[in-house]
Amino acid sequence: MKILFAASEAVPFIASGGLADVIGALPKALQAKKAECRVIIPLYAGIKPEWREKMRYVTNFPVQLGWRSLYCGIFEAVVDGVKYYFVDNEYYFKRDGVYGFYDDAERYAFFSKAVLETIKHIDFKPDIVHCHDWQTALVPVYYQLYYKYVAGYERIKTVFTIHNIQYQGKYGYETMSEVMDIPPSAKSLLDYDGCANMMKGAIEVSDKVTTVSPTYAKEILNPWYAHGLDYLLRSKQYKLCGILNGIDNDQYNPQTDPLIYQNYTADDLPGKEANKKRLCEDMHLNYEDGTPLLGMVTRLVGHKGLDLVKYVFEDILNRGIKIVLLGSGEYFYESFFREMAYRHPGQVAVTIGFIPDLARKIYASSDLFLMPSKSEPCGLAQMISLRYGTIPIVRETGGLKDSIQDCGSLHGNGFTFQSYDAQDMLWAITRAKDLFYDKPNWGNLVRYAMAYDCSWNRSAESYMGLYRELCNA
Ligand code: GLC
Repeated sequence: MKILFAASEAVPFIASGGLADVIGALPKALQAKKAECRVIIPLYAGIKPEWREKMRYVTNFPVQLGWRSLYCGIFEAVVDGVKYYFVDNEYYFKRDGVYGFYDDAERYAFFSKAVLETIKHIDFKPDIVHCHDWQTALVPVYYQLYYKYVAGYERIKTVFTIHNIQYQGKYGYETMSEVMDIPPSAKSLLDYDGCANMMKGAIEVSDKVTTVSPTYAKEILNPWYAHGLDYLLRSKQYKLCGILNGIDNDQYNPQTDPLIYQNYTADDLPGKEANKKRLCEDMHLNYEDGTPLLGMVTRLVGHKGLDLVKYVFEDILNRGIKIVLLGSGEYFYESFFREMAYRHPGQVAVTIGFIPDLARKIYASSDLFLMPSKSEPCGLAQMISLRYGTIPIVRETGGLKDSIQDCGSLHGNGFTFQSYDAQDMLWAITRAKDLFYDKPNWGNLVRYAMAYDCSWNRSAESYMGLYRELCNA
């Protein structure tokens, strides 16, 4: 089985969110299941020279997008046994930053066309092209319109994965023909609410649509979660399913992780405590009082549930809990958390930014990890926390619901609450704090969390089943 992954970011080359982690890990896990996977991403200016040095030039050819004939170079590099292709076009991708340009629709329309064109020029003829999020949503659309009957392409199946339905790639209707190269006869594929909606096109034509947790696959049939696409998804339910992401157990391993202060295992919890002490020193938090440390590593945006945290922030502190937060995003939240750190020295530490090394130290050093998301397609941070023995407190939504069970139940690995309600969240935090002081039971919970299997193995098996079904293999 040959699978080509098309995405806009991938660890270790370029990352702005969880999508990159998935693209960096899933192909490797699929190869362990005897699939042959390759990945194709744009060659951004932000890809570091140390990776560029490892790349080899393969070929170049023109890509036709409407009336434009565009240069497309292909480079390749192999990491952990997986071959990555890089689409080179300096006009589109040699820029500061990854997304957020006035011509993103055109940049990713070009990339999507280039993905299909590349197949003609490389020694890899995929059975499946697996696309991720709106940036590659036009791949299945172009396949349907321009490639399905081209020799060598007839048997290709397309899979489209929604990592977050909030970002759909919606542009003005007028961009459809000139910018995206969609002929008038096919406009209904993308037309949604008077816009050109790229994700809508992919949902229409892909052979399978997946999302990153079984619960989110159900949630997005509901208007509260679907950002307008629930009606369409209900009609495509026959080809929709949810497969929970995993995490890379080699990359996230407290026993070997070079980024944390001190390595430890489930049998050496004092080793974890040593991390907490060092982080508290570095962050000027009071360690000596022995109270629990609650970590948050998050984008500071609305759907992460930060309004709940804001509402009861001081109640959390009044329960004798210290807070360490790392994140960046909306100014409103950034200034709120900065102010809290200023007002509560020794109890609250806030770092505004996206600093992977510090994130890792927070995962390892905290006792509790809070994710009260309003919606969370999968979420990786709660799984990383489990691996480092940091007990997650989550709202029961999307992948949070599928990976964390309340320890009031028989097999609990964390604390959960159901309603999007600040008092319910506070109650879950209070229960966690109370158990924290019951040392023998707390130790058992931490060990149980660390043994919980969040690896890609199970998910990769589910994807293999899906691919086999499509290829009748
Ligand atoms: C998106 C989602 C997140 C998910 C990630 C990887 O970033 O918001 O929940 O874990 O994609 O699939």
